[in-house]
Amino acid sequence: MPQKKQRSALGSSATVEDYLERILELINVKGYARVVDIAAALKISQASVTNMVQRLDGEGLLKYEKYRGLVLTTAGETLARNIARRHELLTDFLTLLLGLDDRVIYHDVEGMEHHISPSTLRAIAALTAQLRRRPALRAELARAVV
Ligand code: FE2
Repeated sequence: MPQKKQRSALGSSATVEDYLERILELINVKGYARVVDIAAALKISQASVTNMVQRLDGEGLLKYEKYRGLVLTTAGETLARNIARRHELLTDFLTLLLGLDDRVIYHDVEGMEHHISPSTLRAIAALTAQLRRRPALRAELARAVV
């Protein structure tokens, strides 16, 4: 479950990314994303979601029609896929390297994914690929981080 973040920062890029990430996830799982589902996923009020969804519509990231739900535009989907990819890469890395509890990893990834730079992400992706191929190295590192 997503942890509570600073919702007062409505409109920060982290907030926008969280919305897009959840919307893409809902569309992938259910085939659609409604305001009520987004509110439940983000644990915030439907009124707040409606405001934000209208803003995202204004920014060209999605198309919102009150009674028909919403769809991501190409720009919105590109951003959403990017954040989903960062989420996946960081989750793989922390799982492989540290083997921490899933909830801890989820919580940390939800924060890290908004701030990590492309170059650090590339380095982590390369390291993750190495770790995947080298179980002996993984075991050695696992012993070091216990
Ligand atoms: Fe995420």
